[in-house]
Formats: sequence, structure tokens, C-alpha cells
Amino acid sequence: MKTLCKLSFLLLFFATFTSYCCDALPLSTHKRWIMDEATGKRVKLTCAHWVTHAEPMLAEGLSHLPLNDIVKQFPQRGFNCVRLSYATYMFTRYANVSVSETFRSLDIPEMVAAIEKHNPWVLKMTHLHAFEAVVDSLDKQGVMMVIDNHVSLPKWCCLYDDQIGFFNDRHFQPHEWLQGLDLVAHSFKEKRHVSCHMYRHEKIN
Ligand SMILES: *[C@@H]1O[C@H](CO)[C@@H](O)[C@H](O)[C@H]1NC(C)=O
Repeated sequence: MKTLCKLSFLLLFFATFTSYCCDALPLSTHKRWIMDEATGKRVKLTCAHWVTHAEPMLAEGLSHLPLNDIVKQFPQRGFNCVRLSYATYMFTRYANVSVSETFRSLDIPEMVAAIEKHNPWVLKMTHLHAFEAVVDSLDKQGVMMVIDNHVSLPKWCCLYDDQIGFFNDRHFQPHEWLQGLDLVAHSFKEKRHVSCHMYRHEKIN
């Protein structure tokens, strides 16, 4: 029985190994390390933080350069990964609101004009589609992503009294938070370069 267990374990190991042997993604873990099973080497994530969790709920910089040109810069500057931060409410409340509508309500016409110049297509998109376009561009250019649940209310964070941290904060309803995680996981599960993560600060009284 013991031998059988060992054998099936070995088979399982080889099955797992062969299924990933020619493909670097998805990555796996070994003890505390992140591994690329194709090469047997450790992988280190070198991530830049790309903010999408602020009030405009749009990846920053689209008012400066075309999306693909921004994405190209990550590997050029030595980053193999982007931590793409989002606000839960963008998925649970504003997913179908258009980017231009949000910008109108924020009253920042100069920003709209600049986006119109570099990424005009994004203005008529919904927030969900605009976020997906950013993920797609990173995915296509082989940049790994840690899609990061940063806050609930779209807002620059983090102050200890901003109410956008974890439990018992005004902008933290566990039900909606779980709904947001679920939406993100479902939206991006087919993307090879995506993993999900949470960054939240705890309130200190
Ligand atoms: C957006 O629209 C889709 C499709 O109609 C719907 O399933 C989803 O609940 C909507 N999301 C929000 C946040 O309103």
C-alpha cells in the first residue's frame, strides 16, 4: 500500500511536470519560492505599481501615451510584472459606467482632451472594458500582472482614518468585497499572465 502511494505520487508528479514542461506559465511554488517549471529556476517578480484604483478608475498615464507604448516601457525598464491596483466598487458599482461619464462628473476636461489625443477609444468604453483593455495589452506583451484589490471606494489611499481599509471600515462590506474578488477572478481567469492579490491596510485605533 505504501509503495502504491509512493508510485501514484510519482506519477502525479510526472503528470504535473510534463503538462507544464514546455510552458513557463502558470508558475508554481516550491516551499517559499516561485518557480518556472519549464526551466526549473526561481522566478522573481519585479513589479511596477500601475494605479487604477484612484477616483477616475482608469489606468493612469493614458492621457500621456498610447496604451501599448506605456506597456512596452515596463520590460524596457526592467520590470517583468505590473501590480495593477483596482477599487472594488469599480467592479461592483461602476463596471458599466463609461469612462467619459466618470470624467465628466469629476470635471477634468483637460484630462479628457489629453486622453482624446492619445487613447480616444478608451473614453466611450465602460470601466470594465477599459480595465480589460489594459490587462489585454499587458498580457499580449508578456508582462505578468498581480491584479491588486487595493481599496473599495476609488480613492488615493492610505490614511488610517480614510475608512477604505479592512474590517469595520465604512467602505468595507465583506459581501461586496467578496463579490468584487469573484468578478475579478472570473473576468481574468483565462489570462495567462494574471494572478490576484489583496493589499489593504488595517485601521489602527
Ligand atoms: C453590468 O452589466 C452586466 C450585463 O448586463 C451585468 O451582469 C452586471 O451586473 C452589470 N454590472 C454592474 C456593476 O452594474
